[in-house]
Amino acid sequence: MKFQKICVIGLGYIGLPTASTFAANGVNVLGMDINPHIIETLNKGEIHIHEPGLRDAVTKAIGSGNFKAATQPEEADAFIIAVPTPFQENQFGEYNGVKYKLADMRAVISAAESILPFLRKGNLVVLESTSPPRTTVDLITPILARSGLVAGRDFHLAYSPERVLPGQILRELIENARVIGGVTPESAQAGRDLYSIFVKGQIIETDATTAEMVKLMENTYRDVNIAIANEFSRLADKFGVDVWEAISIANLHPRVKILSPGPGVGGHCISVDPWFFVEAAPELTPLIYHTRQVNDSQPHFVVENVKRALGSLSGKKIAALGLAYKPDVDDLRESPANEVIHLLQEQGAQVKAWEPFKPDAKMRGISMADSLESALKDADAIVLLVKHTEFTNLVPQEIAKITNARIIVDTVNGLNSEAWKNHGFVFHRIGDSKSEIQNRKS
Ligand SMILES: NC(=O)c1ccc[n+]([C@@H]2O[C@H](COP(=O)([O-])OP(=O)(O)OC[C@H]3O[C@@H](n4cnc5c(N)ncnc54)[C@H](O)[C@@H]3O)[C@@H](O)[C@H]2O)c1
Repeated sequence: MKFQKICVIGLGYIGLPTASTFAANGVNVLGMDINPHIIETLNKGEIHIHEPGLRDAVTKAIGSGNFKAATQPEEADAFIIAVPTPFQENQFGEYNGVKYKLADMRAVISAAESILPFLRKGNLVVLESTSPPRTTVDLITPILARSGLVAGRDFHLAYSPERVLPGQILRELIENARVIGGVTPESAQAGRDLYSIFVKGQIIETDATTAEMVKLMENTYRDVNIAIANEFSRLADKFGVDVWEAISIANLHPRVKILSPGPGVGGHCISVDPWFFVEAAPELTPLIYHTRQVNDSQPHFVVENVKRALGSLSGKKIAALGLAYKPDVDDLRESPANEVIHLLQEQGAQVKAWEPFKPDAKMRGISMADSLESALKDADAIVLLVKHTEFTNLVPQEIAKITNARIIVDTVNGLNSEAWKNHGFVFHRIGDSKSEIQNRKS
C-alpha cells in the first residue's frame, strides 16, 4: 500500500515525533490535536514538550511544507491514533474485596469517532495508544463500523504499540523493532507498508490482540522486576545491608539481572499499563496487582528513611531535587517524587522542590523553587529524588557553600557518598543501612 497523506491524531510525546518523522520522510502529514494551544504553538514553529532533537525535527517538517497541524482530521490514506490512555481518577473496579484502577479510554473513543466522517475504502487506521487487551477488536472496530465500512474488509485496521524511551524518542522510533497487529493479515501488511517508510528495526506482523498484549507484557515485566528490587531495598534496610552492593554482587550470576530500587515507579506507562491486565482479568493477576501495591507504597519507605535521617520531620525544611518520573526528562506524570513530597508535608516537613527540566511546573500542593540555590537556601536536608545528570554532577564543596543543610538522602543511588561525606555531609541512601550503621560508629 502507498501513503501520500497521513493524519496523526494526538500530538504529544508519541504523536508529534511520529508525525515529524513521517514528514521528514516525504509524507504529507496532518497532525491533529484537540488542544488548540498545541496547534497554535506548532504552527508558530514552536513545540510544547521537551524531547531532544524534536524542536529541530518539527521546524524542518513545517519548513518542508510536509507538516501542518489542525484541530480537525482530514481525509488521508492512513490515520494513526496516539492519544492518552491514563487510568480513571475516581472510579475503581473491585474483585473479592480488592480495589483496582480502571483504564480511561475516553480519548481513544473520541479520537476514533473523529475519524468517522473522513474514513474511506482502502484506508488504514492504526491505534498506537497503549490499550487493554482486545481494544482494537472490541472497542475500535464497532466505532469505525458506524461509518458503514467494515474493518478488515473495506479498510485496514491495526494495533501498533510504541516502545520508545523518552529522551531518545526520535532515534528509537526509527531503530526499535516494531510489532504490528492487524485485524487481518492484510491489515498487518498495510501497517508494515506504512511504518517501513522510516522504521529500520525489525517489523513483526501478528494479530491485533497479541500486539496489545506484547506492549502490556513488556511494561508489566518491568514493573514486577522493579518491585522486587524495591522489596530487596526494604529487606536490606532491615538487615543492615547495602542493597546496592548486594545487587551488584548478585548480578555477577550469569542468569540474574536485578534492576535498581528507587523512590517508586512513575510515568505514563509502567505505573499505568499493568492495571489494564488487572482490570481485564482480576482473577488471573494477583502478582501484577501486588506488584503495583509494592511500587506504589515505595514513597512511604522513602519518607521513613528521611524521617530516620532527620529524627523528626515536623517543621524541617527539605530541598527535594527532581520531580520528573525518571532522569533527564521533563515528564512529571505519575511521578513518585510528587508522592514523596506530599507524604513529607503530611508529616510536617516544609518542602521546596527544584525540577530543572520544568522549573515553572504547577503541581498541586507543591512549592516549586525557581533555582537550585533557592531550593537549598535555608534547607535542613536535601533529598535526591531523580537521577538527573545535573544532580549527579553536583559538586559537594560548591553545594556546601550555598546551603547549611548537611544531611543528604539519596533515593536513586545518584551521588558518590564518599565525596559528600568528605565535605561534611551526613549521607543516607535508601536500602543501605550498612553505611548508616558505619556512619554512627565513625
Ligand atoms: N510517552 C511515552 O513515552 C509513551 C511510550 C509508549 C507508549 N505511550 C502511549 O502512547 C499514548 C500517547 O501517549 P503520549 O505520551 O503521547 O500522550 P500525551 O499526553 O503526551 O499526548 C497526547 C495528546 O493527545 C491529545 N488528545 C487527547 N484526546 C484527543 C482526541 N480525542 N483527539 C485528538 N487529540 C487528542 C492531547 O491533547 C495530547 O496532546 C498513550 O497511550 C501512552 O500510554 C507513551
